[in-house]
Amino acid sequence: MLDTINIIKQNALTELEKVTDVQLLDAFRINFLARKGQIAELFDKLKDVPSDQRPAAGKALNELRVLVQSNFDEKKATLEQTSNKRASKIDLSLPGRKHWVGSKHPLMQTLDEIKRIFLGMGFTVETGPEIEDDYHNFEALNFPPDHPARDMQDTFFISEKVLLRTHTSPVQIRVMEKQQPPIRVIIPGRVYRNEAVSARSYCLFHQVEGLYVDTHVNFAELKGTLVAFAKQLYGSSLKYRFRPSFFPFTEPSAEMDITCFLCHGKGCRVCKGSGWLEILGCGMVDPNVFSSVGYDTEKYTGYAFGMGIERITMLRYGIDDIRLLFENEIRFLSQF
Ligand code: PHE
Repeated sequence: MLDTINIIKQNALTELEKVTDVQLLDAFRINFLARKGQIAELFDKLKDVPSDQRPAAGKALNELRVLVQSNFDEKKATLEQTSNKRASKIDLSLPGRKHWVGSKHPLMQTLDEIKRIFLGMGFTVETGPEIEDDYHNFEALNFPPDHPARDMQDTFFISEKVLLRTHTSPVQIRVMEKQQPPIRVIIPGRVYRNEAVSARSYCLFHQVEGLYVDTHVNFAELKGTLVAFAKQLYGSSLKYRFRPSFFPFTEPSAEMDITCFLCHGKGCRVCKGSGWLEILGCGMVDPNVFSSVGYDTEKYTGYAFGMGIERITMLRYGIDDIRLLFENEIRFLSQF
């Protein structure tokens, strides 16, 4: 009997060591301490022990029960403590974690709106490469070899003949190279200029180009299209004007102004006192441009226009620093 008691004692103590959670602890209790457990079974067998050995066996058995029970109690207490500690780390009163919902960048919202208006007038969307060659960016667009825009100060050159496009106009050439008139496309995209970064200019910005080529296209249609566009974008009460201008690839050329959103024409800091803000450049496609893509200059005429999306976005939302549009600061972007 004493041997059995010793074996059970060893077993119980090593089993208890392995207990790491309440389920295992309960299994241990059922195995050793419950009414049908190993220790109770031994108590049942006590009556079979010869009477001279019985007192010693009873004593040892009692000691075993007390030992196992107290070790069990201790284990139970430590297990409860650690699970309490874990539970106390959960603060049910904390507000839930906020899930940030992304939003469309204000530039892309403006672009969507511009696209919607022109698609409604029968234009389709084309795109072209941001890394361009000198031919498409300048030469085919009738820039003379010594034109100041070709200067290192304006253009990011990659090599002598390869550069980051300075406007979306080279895509006019790419579209005309691969298809015949009638053409009616808008071309959104990024453009790059080597300018000092300030509140008004950035080394990267976005343009939307427009190109319409067919027989009998005239300047009145150009004006009509742009006025219809601007009124949809800014509201029908918009005031506008066209000013003569110059671009190598259009003749005649013009720029379109609208009344300043801030002072409504009175003159202020934003419009530099003039009351007007320029929103785009435009003109009739220069016959030299048609020649460079092999179009019949007697048969076809066309108009083109180009606008900066940053400028239009800043006017729409009253943003006074272009750099905000490129910093991707969540607190700024989440306002739109
Ligand atoms: N490409 C010109 C610019 O970047 C804009 C323009 C496009 C002007 C088409 C006329 C016609 O300033």
